[in-house]
Formats: sequence, structure tokens, C-alpha cells
Amino acid sequence: MASLLLDNVTKIYRPRGKAPVEAVKRVTLDVKDGEIVALLGSSGCGKTSMLRMIAGFEDVTEGAIKIDGKEIHRLAPAERDVAMAFEGYSLYPPLKVRENIGFALLRQRGAGADIEARVKEVASLLEIGDILDRYPSLISAGQQQRTSLARALIRRAPVSLLDEPMSQLEPQLRAILRARLKDYLIAHKMTTVFVTHDQTEAVALADRIAVMEKGELQQFGTPDEIKTSPTNLFVASFIGEPPMNIFAGEVSPVSGGVAVRGFGPDGTSAFALKAPGLELDASRRVQIGIRPHLIRTGTGASDATGRVITNHWLGDQSHISFDIGGCTVVGVTDQPIAARAGDALPVGFPLRAIHLFDPETGNALAHGLDRAP
Ligand SMILES: Nc1ncnc2c1ncn2[C@@H]1O[C@H](COP(=O)(O)OP(=O)(O)OP(=O)(O)O)[C@@H](O)[C@H]1O
Ligand SMILES: [Mg+2]
Repeated sequence: MASLLLDNVTKIYRPRGKAPVEAVKRVTLDVKDGEIVALLGSSGCGKTSMLRMIAGFEDVTEGAIKIDGKEIHRLAPAERDVAMAFEGYSLYPPLKVRENIGFALLRQRGAGADIEARVKEVASLLEIGDILDRYPSLISAGQQQRTSLARALIRRAPVSLLDEPMSQLEPQLRAILRARLKDYLIAHKMTTVFVTHDQTEAVALADRIAVMEKGELQQFGTPDEIKTSPTNLFVASFIGEPPMNIFAGEVSPVSGGVAVRGFGPDGTSAFALKAPGLELDASRRVQIGIRPHLIRTGTGASDATGRVITNHWLGDQSHISFDIGGCTVVGVTDQPIAARAGDALPVGFPLRAIHLFDPETGNALAHGLDRAP
């Protein structure tokens, strides 16, 4: 149990004979005692680089890393009280799974006779209790990954770093292990930073999510904050499945409120809404965002008429796409919708669901237009 601070951390790789790569740019991340944090971002955005700097396998180019307020970024990895499960597993080939998992405890004082029991506990938690006497070369990739995860978890280190710890597993097993992993981390008050590409996993496991892009931290917040108040267009469109609908548009002052217009690809008005009670000095261009799950269709919806492009019932939800004045709008409903391609349906955009972004910077201007500021 410990707090972890990345203070303005930059990582520049300087490969010989090649241009330098700025993999992490001035990232500040304040992870509380016992907190579980997910790093989410596209491939190459610097997630592994961040974990490797915390663990001590890469130098910090600029900035500092602190555990419980003490600078640790110049210490050797073994002196940092940090456990890491690597993206590439890196198991010891001559050691059995059981020995791989227990290895880190050998030099931990006081573990002693406890080692065998602790190995069994984490192995059973991760469903690998039946392969403890095998060698890493004789088990599957998913089993190697769980062995690597077990080796990190068994230490109950003050800070644990897990790099895509369950990426090799099928969704059913992932869901079961995710719940157990969360219980384990909480029970042992383990401060944890884990990397994932799976948004469901990030939301289910993490207290807070750090969204990264091109080496920069875009937003650090609870799953709910990131979903309902994305700080910019990148976060808005990266988080959420299907992604947020984004339209070019304009907001302008009208009597008693603000008019919001969405434009089709030719720049003509595709739909218009009024947000009563809001005030605005002058018209301005915006990007309008609206989540598919909040779009309404059928009775009671009256903001626009959509021509159905596709309509798929997925067993527990419908994904329906419309053409509205040349804009493609995706909606999700929890009921099947009786409509075919070409049908015209009324579509509603609830004001509380509308996000506005600055078209130049991409930064958020407003989340929800249902109340006066
Ligand atoms: N040793 C290295 N030398 C030079 N460049 C590197 C090195 N390691 C990583 N990079 C570069 O730094 C950037 C960040 O890489 P990193 O491995 O941290 O990304 P990542 O977010 O973990 O990606 P992924 O999701 O694919 O694992 C990439 O552009 C990568 O090519
Ligand atoms: Mg990586």
C-alpha cells in the first residue's frame, strides 16, 4: 500500500542512428494509496513506457517518480517495492510454473513456509492450479500470461504494475478473473496501475482511468467522469462503444435560448434544436457530440427525421443507423425496433446528452445543454 506520483515525466528514446522518439510527454499522474488505475490508449501511445519507468527498467528523461513522497526513479528496480507483470510475460524457462510464481517471495523476509500456500492461492485465483509442475515452454500463451500475472500478484507489493494482464484470455474467463483480481487487489490494499485495450475491463476494474494519446495524458478521471464529461474530442470518441456521434455544427443566440444546428457534409443544416434558458453572445462553430445510447427514436422523438440505413438486433440491444440530412447517426436501444433500411423514423436528441467541443482545439465547451450555466 503506497501512493504513487508521476511528476511531469517525459521519456525520450534515442535509438542509435535513428531519430529520437518522445514516447511520454510531461505526464503527471497522482495515484492514491490503494487506488486501481487503468492506462487506456491506442497502440504506441506510451503505456508500457510509463510502467517500465515506474518499475525502473527505463530511465526517466525528465521529471520525477515518487512512492509515498520519496523519489524512486534513480533507484535500481529491486529497491523500488514495485511488482510488474510484463506484456511479454518474461518467465524463467528452467523453472516450473510453481517456482516462477514463488520466486519473488524467496527473497522477501518472513514469507518462509508461507510460499507454498501463497502460490496455491494465486494459482487457484487465476485458474492455473493444475499446471504448477509444468515448464513455461509447455503451457499455452494464456497460461503463461496468467503465470506472469500470478508472479506479480503474489508479492502484494506496495505498487503493482500489470501490462495488459489478461489480453490472451477469452471473454468469459476474463470476466471471471477480473472480478477475482479486483477483490484480491482491494483485500491487500494494492496500489495498482494496469494497461488494457479493453474499455469494459478498464471501467470494471479501475477507480480512475488515465486516457493517453501520442505520449500525452488526455484525461484522468473516474469511469463516470470520462464517459459523461470527456475533456476533448479525442477522449469523447475513444471511450464508448459504439463511439460518440460527432457532427460539425453551430450554436447561435435565439430568443429565449440557444439554437444548436448540425451540418451535413455539404455544410447545410441537417437538424436543429433549441436549448431554452441558455445564453450566448454570438454564434460560433462547434463540434456536436452525442452518445448512441442516449439517442431516442420512435414515439416522443421529434428533433429530426432519420432515414434508416441499417438496423441490427444483437440479442440484447439494437444498433440502428440513420441518415439525417447527410449525417450518419448511430443509435442504440435496449428494445428491438421494427424498421427496415429506407424507412423514415423520428429521432430525438435529448439536450442533456449533447456535448459541444471547440472545432480548432477539440477541447470540450459544454456537457449537457439542459440547464442554464
Ligand atoms: N526501446 C525503444 N526504443 C525506441 N523507441 C521505443 C522503444 N520502446 C518504445 N518505443 C517507442 O515509444 C512509443 C511508445 O511505446 P510503448 O511501448 O510505450 O507504447 P504502448 O502504449 O505500450 O503500445 P502497445 O499498446 O502497442 O503496447 C512507440 O512509438 C514506440 O515505438
Ligand atoms: Mg505496451
